[in-house]
Amino acid sequence: METEGKENVVHIVRTTTELRRARETLVGRVGFVPTMGALHRGHRRLIEESAKATDATIVSIFVNPRQFGPHEDFEKYPRTEEEDLALCEAAGAAVVFLPSVPVMYPEEPLVKVMVDARLSGVLCGAHRPGHFDGVAQVVVILFNLVQPTHAFFGEKDYQQLLIIKRLVADLAFPIEIVPVRTVREPDGLALSSRNRYLSPEERAKAPAIYRVMCQCRERAEQVRFDRIALPVEKLEEEGRAILLKEIPDAEIDYFEIRHADTLERTTFVMNRSRLFVAVRLAGTRLIDNLPLFGE
Ligand code: PAF
Repeated sequence: METEGKENVVHIVRTTTELRRARETLVGRVGFVPTMGALHRGHRRLIEESAKATDATIVSIFVNPRQFGPHEDFEKYPRTEEEDLALCEAAGAAVVFLPSVPVMYPEEPLVKVMVDARLSGVLCGAHRPGHFDGVAQVVVILFNLVQPTHAFFGEKDYQQLLIIKRLVADLAFPIEIVPVRTVREPDGLALSSRNRYLSPEERAKAPAIYRVMCQCRERAEQVRFDRIALPVEKLEEEGRAILLKEIPDAEIDYFEIRHADTLERTTFVMNRSRLFVAVRLAGTRLIDNLPLFGE
């Protein structure tokens, strides 16, 4: 968007050569916000946080085919380049990288990143086989191309955030991963590029997900106040039942409480317990998560 008179002018690059040249001009802390486009206020928050904390921000927009299953929404995933560029510019990005599939994957890779099942075989990974391997593959390539000092990931995709933290630690990337809180609509629905798939009726039902999650959190807090041990399975069962009462046609992929650092199951609710939910509303998959204590 090379428009005169604006405070921030974003530099658009589409090839790896252009990206490397642009990167060479940047000094100091370089923040990176990887995205698949269809940007909303959640992405805007990521870019703004990066712009505040670093000297320059690079955003990538790439709908990564490797993280979609054969029957998922890769083809119909929203592509809104013009609006995305305007948002990046307004939020303070210095460079936007918009590669095509052949730019990112000039050949079928013979070396692939694989995420251990302890992190990728539960929650979304259990319902989307190969998804996190595809995410890890593209993020490794992007990190190598962009060479950021900091990378910003939303807590909305909490399992992805944990996997990226381990990826950086296990593969020794000199990058600080900065988590950013989930941005919500006033009625509590977590912002997501997929919310635009919802019909007005489905959109009206969707906030019940967060409402029920908050009820579970209140129940956990109350039980802790009463100094009683609360079995995880009991709270999950109660939560699922309330959710199905609120949205009878919801298909619950999972409604699970796990340890926030390891994603392991625990018998009782504990300090680091986090609630994870994935619900399908007429084919649209919505995910959300919440710590049961703190925040
Ligand atoms: O969170 C996303 O939008 C994607 O999974 C990411 C990190 C950009 C990789 O394609």
